[in-house]
Amino acid sequence: MKVLVTGAGGFVGEHLIRFLLHRKHDVVAIGINNGAFLKAMHIKTHIVNILDSDVLNEVMREEFPDAVIHLAAISNVPVSWQKPGLTVDVNIHGALNVLQAFYAVNPQGRFINIGSSDEYGLTAKAGLPLTEEMPCRPQNPYSISKYSAEQMICQFGRKYGMKVISTRSFNHYGPGQAKGFVIADFASQIAAIECGLAVPVIKVGDISAARDFTYVDDVVRAYAALLESDADGGIYNVCSGNAISIRDALHDMLSLAECEIRVAVDEDKFRPAEVKYFIGDNTKLNKATGWQPVYEYRMGLQNVLTYWRDIYRK
Ligand code: GDD
Repeated sequence: MKVLVTGAGGFVGEHLIRFLLHRKHDVVAIGINNGAFLKAMHIKTHIVNILDSDVLNEVMREEFPDAVIHLAAISNVPVSWQKPGLTVDVNIHGALNVLQAFYAVNPQGRFINIGSSDEYGLTAKAGLPLTEEMPCRPQNPYSISKYSAEQMICQFGRKYGMKVISTRSFNHYGPGQAKGFVIADFASQIAAIECGLAVPVIKVGDISAARDFTYVDDVVRAYAALLESDADGGIYNVCSGNAISIRDALHDMLSLAECEIRVAVDEDKFRPAEVKYFIGDNTKLNKATGWQPVYEYRMGLQNVLTYWRDIYRK
């Protein structure tokens, strides 16, 4: 299948493109820069700001993809508080631009929009596996924008008679994820300390929260499964079905460290509004595609730490 991927130069984009190529798809990348990864993959790349609908329309006309996987987004919650206008523009207008440009060339195509578990917001409670029918009560600029985009995309999909899928992807982690996300923040600090680049104190935010984490290569397997299966249009959770407390994740990461590290709580990392506990139910995705996670959690943590050690040891 010819698959156009937006947000191609980002963390998930890299892992997704590798997997789609491995599955023998023809991949076209859309990114805001032609980074080293995209050059190394030798795939056709267009440098496009998804807010520029004219350029987007041209690219769609030139490429005529069978499917689109829309990853491009402002995905960091604290950044969305700092830049709410940009978050609304990129996450809502950008998503709509991509959908409309695709519809104009291939109304029969499959559109997969990547949304977030954060859309459930205040509905999330300790011990309650979230299912797709439960109400969304998003409570930060990021999750409000992702929920609006999802609703907009699905509504236009219905109007156009298109097959539109929108995921609610729970937290993911893996090599290549930028600082600003919890596992990357922990691993990068540990690696910097091991390399003598920082004092042996790890700064953490609110570790009383819990999240449902999935390793990034399982996440992209889920996106490929939605692409390749005859799953109906609609909303799909992408999650492991297990919640891990951030405190446990911190200790699991520290157990992999090569030296003693002290923990210091940094009040600046606390957030204005925080949903403490997320756990998802992946039954719908599993029934539609057979997907289930296969990567082991500790191996995933080890891979992230190795990634940061390689960066700091260079
Ligand atoms: N980033 C970060 N850094 N978070 C920390 C830290 C730290 O040092 N210490 C504790 N935390 C806590 C946060 O307060 C939050 O409760 C939890 O760890 C996870 O934070 P993030 O990794 O930033 O993820 P998130 O849950 O806010 O949002 C992510 O998950 C969504 C899926 O639910 C993002 O990746 C979103 O893009 C994604 O959609």
